[in-house]
Amino acid sequence: MAIKINHIAIVVPDLDEGTGFWADALGLRVSKVEDVADQQVRVAFLPVGDSNIELLQPTDDDSGVARYLQKKGPGLHHICLEVDNIVETMDQLKKANVQLINEEPRSGHDGVKFAFIHPRATGGTLVELYQLPHEDAA
Ligand code: CO
Repeated sequence: MAIKINHIAIVVPDLDEGTGFWADALGLRVSKVEDVADQQVRVAFLPVGDSNIELLQPTDDDSGVARYLQKKGPGLHHICLEVDNIVETMDQLKKANVQLINEEPRSGHDGVKFAFIHPRATGGTLVELYQLPHEDAA
């Protein structure tokens, strides 16, 4: 099974300031900015090759991302691995007794399926799994 890095997510207190280094100094392009209402974040995507830097700004003081920012400050939040079949990958992890945050895949924007693996199970890094919509999806 092929696994790719889809994005690396970084928490920032403010998206406009947060893009400063990545876009203005380094020269990456912001490809899209969107509000993800159910996770109370505003997100900016900056493509790097086939992957993205994803900047996350909490839009609510009570969200998980906001609490993370209050506790740990700005910086790396999670890495996202893109897999062919998220259900298969999650079954494989469950068999290996890996602690998942989401027991079932959730549906995100544009038909993406995603789930998070607990950092306790990965050696300290929050890992997201992603399955992009397949063109031949039944
Ligand atoms: Co993500």
